[in-house]
Amino acid sequence: MSSVRDYIRTIADFPHEGIMFRDVTTLFADPRGFRMAIDQLLHPYAGTRFDKVVGLEARGFILGGAVAHQLSAGFVPVRKKGKLPGAVISESYTLEYGEAVVEVHDDAVQPGERVLIVDDLLATGGTAEAGIKLMERMGAEIIGCAFIIDLPDLGGRARLEKLGMDVHALCT
Ligand code: PRP
Ligand code: ADE
Repeated sequence: MSSVRDYIRTIADFPHEGIMFRDVTTLFADPRGFRMAIDQLLHPYAGTRFDKVVGLEARGFILGGAVAHQLSAGFVPVRKKGKLPGAVISESYTLEYGEAVVEVHDDAVQPGERVLIVDDLLATGGTAEAGIKLMERMGAEIIGCAFIIDLPDLGGRARLEKLGMDVHALCT
């Protein structure tokens, strides 16, 4: 196996009929695959300074923690509603297969801090846009949004670029 794409498994009809679920657990489980994914996520940001990496629940936590460590940045989780213990700000959004609310602690990022948003997959862009809105409300400077997979037919990249975001994805 030579590319990140080769380690990603597709499972049909999960979590609902008609969805081709791109499963990154097979990528994460492989020592070479996981290292390759983290290295490639970081590649465009060589020499760039970040204060915080913002991971989107749930697979964005696994990637974001490793990316934050490599960047010597802090890590901030954007979680599904009701999981964070402190005071939060919230954004609701729609998904390829559902609707949800995400939250972040209201003191997790300071105005002017430079952040990188990380998740495993960009589909409609609803989840990432909610994360972006949370960061913008906190006054963060969003340097980029990085994903393992972009599903271009679902329009997420175009949606984020329309918001002025720099989008980096390892495969489509
Ligand atoms: C998946 C994926 C992204 C989101 C992308 O997460 O990990 O976070 O969907 O979809 P979008 O671009 O259409 O918003 P999911 O909602 O399945 O949550 P989970 O990671 O907590 O299982
Ligand atoms: N999140 C939204 N769409 C998805 C897909 N097709 N595979 C994995 N995660 C997703």
